[in-house]
Amino acid sequence: MRVLVTGGAGFIGSNFIRHALQVHADWYITNLDKLTYAGNLENLRDIEGDSRYSFVKGDIADRQVVDSLFKENHFDVVVNFAAESHVDRSILDPAPFIDTNIKGTQVLLEAARHHGISKFVQVSTDEVYGSLGPGDPPFIEESLLQPNSPYAASKAAADMMVRAYCRTYGLPTIVTRCSNNYGPYQFPEKLIPLMITNALEDKPLPVYGDGQNVRDWIHVEDHCRAIDLVIQGGQAGEVYNIGASCEMKNLDVVRAVLGVLGKPESLITFVPDRPGHDRRYAIDATKISKELGWKPRYRLLDALPELVRWYRDNETWWRRIKAGEYKNYYEKVYSRRSASVTASPKGK
Ligand code: NAD
Ligand code: DAU
Repeated sequence: MRVLVTGGAGFIGSNFIRHALQVHADWYITNLDKLTYAGNLENLRDIEGDSRYSFVKGDIADRQVVDSLFKENHFDVVVNFAAESHVDRSILDPAPFIDTNIKGTQVLLEAARHHGISKFVQVSTDEVYGSLGPGDPPFIEESLLQPNSPYAASKAAADMMVRAYCRTYGLPTIVTRCSNNYGPYQFPEKLIPLMITNALEDKPLPVYGDGQNVRDWIHVEDHCRAIDLVIQGGQAGEVYNIGASCEMKNLDVVRAVLGVLGKPESLITFVPDRPGHDRRYAIDATKISKELGWKPRYRLLDALPELVRWYRDNETWWRRIKAGEYKNYYEKVYSRRSASVTASPKGK
């Protein structure tokens, strides 16, 4: 099976590629990634020599790049992870979120429609549903879409375009909406890796507002297994929520990180709140569990010591990100070919 993974140099995409190559001996994966600040080929160092994997540097919103890639490869499946993914950045400047998350998704859909595919999986987010009150039931697939940040609005718009391509053109699309991920290779601007790495450096841990906002945490491996099941058995035209029923207040997450590291709570620094900050997310994952037999294997508090160990053991990885050095990896290791040509590491 020929699979196009977009955004595979990011956190979840790189974990997904590693998972898929391990589990499916007959999958050939092309990773199309623009290598924005969040794209890091060091996330895939261990598999870059795998003959079933190839990397293409390019923008999903670039019609020409996408079209020629589809023409050359005859993909069976598209999994679209590529996105601007950080809420705070969307508040500072929504424009790149429109370009990648909305226009980029439409360009991929259009190429998939013209070239033909058997499945298009749009990796979306629970943030499209907006915010819950303390006593509200978790989001179900039929919950209203009420996005509150420019990031969430751009993902909701993309979801609607994916739906429209299914209804109008019969493209076999599926949307997945997952809750907050944690795991190895997460860019240290997101809550958990930022807190772990700041604590390791004895730097302040910035907690927004009163720290009582609730997120529903899921290990990235559980998310990747869910997407894999959706590719194999998900019904076209459907939406699947993905979440591990693991709600925690931010302050409790930060305290747990400090506890594992044996660092003092005096590192916690309350800072002004994020504008439009969603109070609570919670996902009802009954549908994917019943229809596809998916179940999470991890719970945040149990997984945290191992995760902290990973960030301790991979200090060079996150220090290179914090210092900006990871950006040189593509130029250093990959040949300087044009964006429309599949790149392979030098000397391979
Ligand atoms: P990330 O920011 O770590 O990675 C995004 C990747 O997309 C990067 O490699 C980046 O270079 C690439 N990219 C950005 N713009 C591109 C473009 N125009 N063309 C090609 N590549 C481009 O993001 P992540 O946390 O791994 O999230 C992946 C997907 O999962 C996103 O669609 C996000 O909305 C969704 N999601 C994330 C979470 C989470 O907790 N992180 C939860 C639910 C859903
Ligand atoms: O719910 C899924 C979403 O989870 C994904 O769609 C997004 O791509 C992903 O970034 C994430 O969004 P959040 O905004 O929930 O994640 P973030 O890690 O930015 O923040 C988690 C919570 O922690 C949120 O309530 C804000 C708070 N926070 C975050 C940072 C970075 C802080 O208190 N301090 C911080 O420094």
